[in-house]
Amino acid sequence: MLLRALCCSLLLGILPVICMEHKGHISVVLLGATGDLAKKYLWRGLFQLYLDQAAKGNSFSFHGAALTPPEKGQELMFEVLKTLTCPADVTPNRCALMKDQFLKLSRYRQLKTAENYTALHQDIVSSLFDEGLHEAGRLFYLSVPPFAYADIARSINASCRPPPGAWLRVVLEKPFGHDYESAKQLASELQTVFLEDEIYRIDHYLGKQTVDQILPFRRRNRKHLDPIWNRRHMERVEIVLKETVDAKGRTSFYEEYGVIRDVIQNHLTEILTYVAMEVPLNLSNSEVLREKLELLGSLRNLEQSSTVIGQYLDYLPQVREELEKGTHFFSNTPTFAGVLAHIDNVRWEGVPFILTSGKALDERTGYVRVVFKDDAFCMQKEANRTSVRSPCKPKQIIFHIGHGDLGFPAILVSRGLFKPNLPTSQWQEASELPSLQLFGQPLSDYYVYRPVQEKDAYSLLLSNIYLGRKNSFITTKSLLASWNFWTPLLESLDQVSPRMYPGGSDNGHLLDFVMKDGGLHFAADQHLEVLGMGQKADTFGVAQSKFLGSPLVSDWAEHLIQQLAHNIQEAAEEAIKRSGSFHLALSGGSSPTALFQRLSRHHHGFPWKHTHLWVVDERCVPLTDPDSNFGNLEEHLLQHVRVPYLNIHPMPVHRNQRLCVEEDLGTEAYTQEISALVGNASFDLVLLGLGNDGHTASIFPGARDGVEGDKLVVFTESPSKPHQRMSISLPLINKARKVMVLVLGKGKHDIVTLISRVKQDPKKWPITGVNPTSGKMVWYIDYEALLR
Ligand SMILES: *[C@@H]1O[C@H](CO)[C@@H](O)[C@H](O)[C@H]1NC(C)=O
Ligand SMILES: *[C@@H]1O[C@H](CO)[C@@H](O)[C@H](O)[C@H]1NC(C)=O
Ligand SMILES: *[C@@H]1O[C@H](CO)[C@@H](O)[C@H](O)[C@H]1NC(C)=O
Ligand SMILES: *[C@@H]1O[C@H](CO)[C@@H](O)[C@H](O)[C@H]1NC(C)=O
Ligand SMILES: *[C@@H]1O[C@H](CO)[C@@H](O)[C@H](O)[C@H]1NC(C)=O
Repeated sequence: MLLRALCCSLLLGILPVICMEHKGHISVVLLGATGDLAKKYLWRGLFQLYLDQAAKGNSFSFHGAALTPPEKGQELMFEVLKTLTCPADVTPNRCALMKDQFLKLSRYRQLKTAENYTALHQDIVSSLFDEGLHEAGRLFYLSVPPFAYADIARSINASCRPPPGAWLRVVLEKPFGHDYESAKQLASELQTVFLEDEIYRIDHYLGKQTVDQILPFRRRNRKHLDPIWNRRHMERVEIVLKETVDAKGRTSFYEEYGVIRDVIQNHLTEILTYVAMEVPLNLSNSEVLREKLELLGSLRNLEQSSTVIGQYLDYLPQVREELEKGTHFFSNTPTFAGVLAHIDNVRWEGVPFILTSGKALDERTGYVRVVFKDDAFCMQKEANRTSVRSPCKPKQIIFHIGHGDLGFPAILVSRGLFKPNLPTSQWQEASELPSLQLFGQPLSDYYVYRPVQEKDAYSLLLSNIYLGRKNSFITTKSLLASWNFWTPLLESLDQVSPRMYPGGSDNGHLLDFVMKDGGLHFAADQHLEVLGMGQKADTFGVAQSKFLGSPLVSDWAEHLIQQLAHNIQEAAEEAIKRSGSFHLALSGGSSPTALFQRLSRHHHGFPWKHTHLWVVDERCVPLTDPDSNFGNLEEHLLQHVRVPYLNIHPMPVHRNQRLCVEEDLGTEAYTQEISALVGNASFDLVLLGLGNDGHTASIFPGARDGVEGDKLVVFTESPSKPHQRMSISLPLINKARKVMVLVLGKGKHDIVTLISRVKQDPKKWPITGVNPTSGKMVWYIDYEALLR
């Protein structure tokens, strides 16, 4: 014994395997060895495993595998391995030694064909034989996309099984299916190649230190918890995972899954089971899995009304761009959800469990909050209830998973409850707490325990896989039970439009929800009411109200155009009565075409003779080009009505036989023309449109010119072709007597909703810079754009 220990410590650096034959050899095969997860967590976790276990006489070899050819793969993999570091409790010398050994034990291999798997098996067998080692087990970690599982699984079973007496463990990452049927199918495919004991489905949330501690905490503190962990004392349980990031860059995945499938069906549901299941006496055996399954079976079926869902505003544009979808494409995929779950058993009857998660929220945090009923009535005046043990203080237990204001994983227990008992080797009472208010109480009102050493989830789970602790993994039965619970709700949500939210702190109270009538409801009114749609019909029978502080006219598109044409004619008559002429500046784009047609066909009494037609913006193309705004105006209006030739003012984008060249002074020429003819450069009426990015005229987000300053006409750049544009500036628009903004079609719904919520910021959303100094502004938004 002494000799072996001596031998190990002496030889460890040189021939690490020779002295360890007594405990057996483990081959770890990491598939997807150069992927993101491997880079960020898995290699670090494997190195930690090696640090922990090598000293106990186990020997290892690590095979990083991927489809990449050997040389390139080797290079990529060692890039990652080079950056490995040791935890703080390892001395620099030992760290250097262990890292060096770890690198020597790690090889890259290409695993692509069935032959490659056979070769891997033969290599393992022959090298173990050469070194006289006996095999303890093989661990395959599949960090690959799910579509690759089936092939890899078959290859492992066909040619990579270890000899009898050694174990096989195969680790899989979510998603484990998309609904009950697909999960079942996947599971039965796996069951044809592996035994249930061999399958380790990872839910990395179960490796978070705080989550991992829930059951042990409940068991260690059962003296205090037994009387209160039930419906008589518990008010509710909140299980929350908030993210600030959005789905950008991974919408192809997200569009298929959404927030419920992505995190609620798995992470939050697993946590729910830990909080609510019966705690068996022995946490190390399969009792835990049995109790978990029992709990999943007691969940009451979810109704659509048990849920509120939302979608951040940028999601749709991101999906359209990344999936190359047109503007006709819409998505109901929720990026936010709140779900009210109930457990139908004696312990939990009537206690609400609220599960909620979302992207593009105001903070990143994760926690379980158990709130106890407030059953005290306090006679002492409120300011004097200073004792932390006052029965009038809130009583709660928080399993703080990470991030948030607190910034570290922790378990918090209100001092009015009890002082928790936690294993001192792993958890310590936190000292030097920030002066924070957390869940309605100052931090000093809680006992706060934090891990002695923070460990990432994957290290903890890899260690559990190595030790064969199946309790922290998802079994086939519990996976199917969870999908069985979620699938009907998911199907019923397909047709439900999520509430739109702007993202980040702009969300304000928009996503707050309340429990009412046995379900969940958003606390703030629907966004239409947020827009201020009081329904008041005017003489035309169209709905009128306010949008962004200006009058809003809304109707179905056709009626809206009728109304707009009518209002333009009114404005024309009024201007001519006042000053003898009517200066009308018109936008390009597709929305006004219907208006032009309407004006030319139905408004025979329109005073065209005294009307001057100006152009709000123009593309830098010849006037005969189909893209020309003026060309469009000519085709749909000028050809059909009699406007005096001298009253027509196209933008001079085409001068000296070239387009929009600064030296040709086109913007100056148009400025002079306006100044010469339009009194005070104040158009009688400017008709604008609204782009999906918030642009108006040709002033685009981030424009250098035309947002402020004294230029009346500017060159600008559009993100779409043709890029070069000439446009009247926002200051010129704001001099007008009337500005009308026409917005048509459900494709504009998102931008309409967005600008109704954002602050005025013309550089970011140019339309918000339209604000006539002394004139009037009116919105014409059709029902589709307003209501989708
Ligand atoms: C994998 O298998 C293919 C053919 O089955 C072979 O050409 C290739 O060399 C193998 N790769 C390695 C690294 O052995
Ligand atoms: C693995 O493959 C063999 C055939 O090679 C098959 O007989 C066996 O049923 C498969 N599954 C398991 C779990 O061993
Ligand atoms: C708990 O279960 C494990 C696994 O079955 C067993 O090894 C252990 O002895 C049990 N512990 C107690 C206290 O019964
Ligand atoms: C209770 O509060 C009042 C002021 O609101 C104070 O004058 C009084 O001394 C307090 N009593 C105790 C017992 O703290
Ligand atoms: C121009 O502005 C001045 C001062 O605001 C005003 O008195 C005058 O009537 C305006 N002229 C026209 C033609 O609108």
